[in-house]
Amino acid sequence: MIASAGRPTSGRPAPPPLDDQDRPNRPGFRPGRWVAEEEFMVMVPETGGPAKSAVADQRGKSPEPTSPAADARTHLRLEGVSRYFGHEAAVNHINLDIKRGEIFALLGASGCGKSTTLRMIAGLEPVDEGQIVMGDRVLADARTRKSLAPERRNIAIVFQSYAIWPHMTVAQNVAFPLKMRRVPRAERRTRVDKVLQLTGMDKWADKSATLLSGGQQQRVALARALVYEPDLLLLDEPLSNLDTQLRTQMRSEIRRLNQELGVTMLFVTHDQDEAFTVADRVGVMAGGKLEQIGTPVEMYDHPKTPYVRDFLGKMLSVEGTLTWSGAEATVRLPSLDGASGGGITPLTGPDLASLDGERVRLFFRPEDVDIEPMPSGALRPNQIAAKVVGEEYLGDHYEYKIDIGGSTGGIAAPRRSGHRVGDTIALQVDPARVSVWAA
Ligand SMILES: Nc1ncnc2c1ncn2[C@@H]1O[C@H](COP(=O)(O)OP(=O)(O)O)[C@@H](O)[C@H]1O
Ligand SMILES: [Mg+2]
Repeated sequence: MIASAGRPTSGRPAPPPLDDQDRPNRPGFRPGRWVAEEEFMVMVPETGGPAKSAVADQRGKSPEPTSPAADARTHLRLEGVSRYFGHEAAVNHINLDIKRGEIFALLGASGCGKSTTLRMIAGLEPVDEGQIVMGDRVLADARTRKSLAPERRNIAIVFQSYAIWPHMTVAQNVAFPLKMRRVPRAERRTRVDKVLQLTGMDKWADKSATLLSGGQQQRVALARALVYEPDLLLLDEPLSNLDTQLRTQMRSEIRRLNQELGVTMLFVTHDQDEAFTVADRVGVMAGGKLEQIGTPVEMYDHPKTPYVRDFLGKMLSVEGTLTWSGAEATVRLPSLDGASGGGITPLTGPDLASLDGERVRLFFRPEDVDIEPMPSGALRPNQIAAKVVGEEYLGDHYEYKIDIGGSTGGIAAPRRSGHRVGDTIALQVDPARVSVWAA
């Protein structure tokens, strides 16, 4: 079925081997099918070709019309989408609206269901529950058992493994999807030139793909995905194989491509920095569920679930007792070395009245806190006593490990701060930037 890598393009050349990460070591896993599917997304024409998808039970029929999305800007909608492996839900009732032209990042730890979600959207994985709609087309509907074949979805996908064909030139690699779609030669050339220029690979057009670095291969993979103007570009950990410097550069390249081409992108990553710098909006996933969706600022400043709070960046936390005054709350903190531990007020927020007299846990970002020397008298309002229990010198700053009321956390301090392990310090906290959670 798949020609050997050395054969001319009349056969179906095998892409280079997949990374270990793309080869899950689990029962039922068939490498041959995966290779074929990866290839498939890039190569097979929208309307022709023998379809091979296990899920393409509606293959060949015209796309199913549906009611227009509630929000006119919605481009892709997932409604109650699940996927089970045995009794385990790898993806568990996901609802997601992706807007036309935006970059949306699915962010979560390894195994949380990101790739499975992407594969269902691409049509490489069946949908066990729910519905996926793009524009006015139903891509998959578990209830009616409808599923549009992958090659009819006009969706491109870029993987962590670049899957560039080594025996072709850069231009031939990029032209391949157009060739499969029987785009005339002259138009093919124009479109390949344009997309190679966009990805900065024009100087490499006639070079053999074997000469390329990892970063260049990923650019070619991007060019090859974009050349046929997909309605949606899926990117599954596309930068994870690149070194730090290249990764940073490619983040802005992806944003630029999104702006210049207006193509809607769904980006999957386990890296918070990557999600925050690349995406307009982010969805944090855990255990197959979407925990929260929002802009990076919304997510970071107002995490709505304990998982998101703990997953995104570092937090300091301390437990105390809340008193409600009728309009606002005060939290008294545990004493440190026999002296008062201070208090935080005014704290406002929904449901605080119901926590009157209760133990609560306060969370705040270390970067929102000023480190001050311990005052000789009483702590000032919104000062918290803390003890330095560890110290790391990082050249441009110190990283202190501090103990606040029995909880430890890390905080950065400037080079000039002269605190040492064992010192007691005061943290000046802004009550507006503190979030209160039931202990
Ligand atoms: N074909 C499969 N068979 C059985 N389990 C699978 C299969 N694909 C994925 N899983 C499981 O589903 C869960 C989600 O996997 P995946 O979507 O690849 O996660 P992520 O991309 O977030 O790392 C994991 O527990 C994984 O082991
Ligand atoms: Mg994955």
